[in-house]
Amino acid sequence: MTEKSGKTFELTDKDAGRSAQLPLRKGTLGSAALDIAGLNKDLGVFTYDPGFGATAATESRITYIDGDAGVLLYRGYPIEQLAEKSSFMEVAYLLLIGELPTAKQLEEFTGNIRYHTMINESLLRFFNYFHHNAHPMAMVSGVVASMAAFYHDTMDIHNPRHREIFAHRIIAKIPTIAAAAHKHSLGQPFVYPRNDLDYAANVLSMLFAVPCEAYKVDPIAARALDLLFVLHADHEQNASTSTVRLAGSTGANPYAAISAGVSALWGPAHGGANEAVLSMLEQIGTVDNIPKYLAMAKDKSSHFRLMGFGHRVYKNFDPRAKIIREMCHKVLAQLGRSDNPLLELAQRLEEVALKDPYFVERKLYPNVDFYSGVIYSAIGIPRSMFTVMFAIARTVGWVAHWQEMIADPSMRIGRPRQLYTGPVQREYVDIKKRG
Ligand code: ACO
Repeated sequence: MTEKSGKTFELTDKDAGRSAQLPLRKGTLGSAALDIAGLNKDLGVFTYDPGFGATAATESRITYIDGDAGVLLYRGYPIEQLAEKSSFMEVAYLLLIGELPTAKQLEEFTGNIRYHTMINESLLRFFNYFHHNAHPMAMVSGVVASMAAFYHDTMDIHNPRHREIFAHRIIAKIPTIAAAAHKHSLGQPFVYPRNDLDYAANVLSMLFAVPCEAYKVDPIAARALDLLFVLHADHEQNASTSTVRLAGSTGANPYAAISAGVSALWGPAHGGANEAVLSMLEQIGTVDNIPKYLAMAKDKSSHFRLMGFGHRVYKNFDPRAKIIREMCHKVLAQLGRSDNPLLELAQRLEEVALKDPYFVERKLYPNVDFYSGVIYSAIGIPRSMFTVMFAIARTVGWVAHWQEMIADPSMRIGRPRQLYTGPVQREYVDIKKRG
């Protein structure tokens, strides 16, 4: 629980002769938050903050971002250190449990995830009824929601063991669901999980293996994917995580809450940006066209934005983007594809945008999605699956936040208020008298 800092702000409505005492709550890092719980009771007003630009919706001990300094910590550990030294399974344990695992704990955790990788055959058959060109995010969202139908009577959200099994199940099965969506798009048979492989390698195997040939996972691709999963695993109260929390706060089945998160992630302003970046780079085509597209991005009458640029919280480099840009060079060199026109174009675009007063004044920097697509493409993942890859990784964060919320005895249903601007009360008019 946060502590009241001892500092209190008083807000007074002189006309009404009323005032409210608003205590300041301090966390361990970052901005303190004004506790406005008494505001409506004492002054009869709400706060107005569309887009939640200044509202802390919850306390959380999981992830910390300092957007001005470009810092990201998972449970206190800098993302740069985790990217260099850790693995996705270790990070998953860290986010869920709060501490780095011992070797034995990691082995046990990984074993639990491996144990749950298969999905019910009925769930697998759902895919046959999706249109052949359905977007994989639509399929993944639908099938994850359907898991609630398979695990409902056995899921008591107030039982910690049930919550733990849910966590293992969804983290284990989301790659199987994701890969099935991809195979359905291709018209290829589904590939079952291989529990002898590690998490990222198994994802690659389910995406790319076919029954008629032996498939060997490329360790460079597996390592790159694992690292991308580490970088995407959590990002505090972003739109999709807040969606999972809001849906989960009603006591809804957690698979349904995660499905809501998948849907929220899909939008191009959020996780869908990775797909949009590649489309944009292809649209721009050559370095010569950069000025034209930059002008469009600055033109408020056009709907074009520089995808992969800007962030609600980062007003500096997104530390994940820095790591991924470095990684692009390494991975492409290791794969023998150093000559990558998309990477060259992306870098040039970044360079030009970062010198442009429009982007400088608004502190718009590349975000996590700007370079990730270049790596996904290099390891053979099709563009329509980029956001699905993000969803696989972010499932860990969603689950960690859902767990944190449900385990909190002070949890209440999330229920925002509004500033009503519609008609005042009026009398019903009979249809014959309406002019
Ligand atoms: N291209 C051009 N202009 C931009 C961009 C951009 N990518 N991003 C922000 N701006 C401009 C806005 O038009 C606005 O200008 P104004 O002050 O003249 O009106 C100003 O910068 C502030 O932007 P907002 O939209 O108010 O910022 P907000 O915090 O609401 O949005 C967002 C953040 C959605 C990420 C935005 O920067 C954007 O649309 N970026 C492109 C999409 C993207 O990359 N999304 C991925 C984010 S990371 C993630 O979710 C995984």
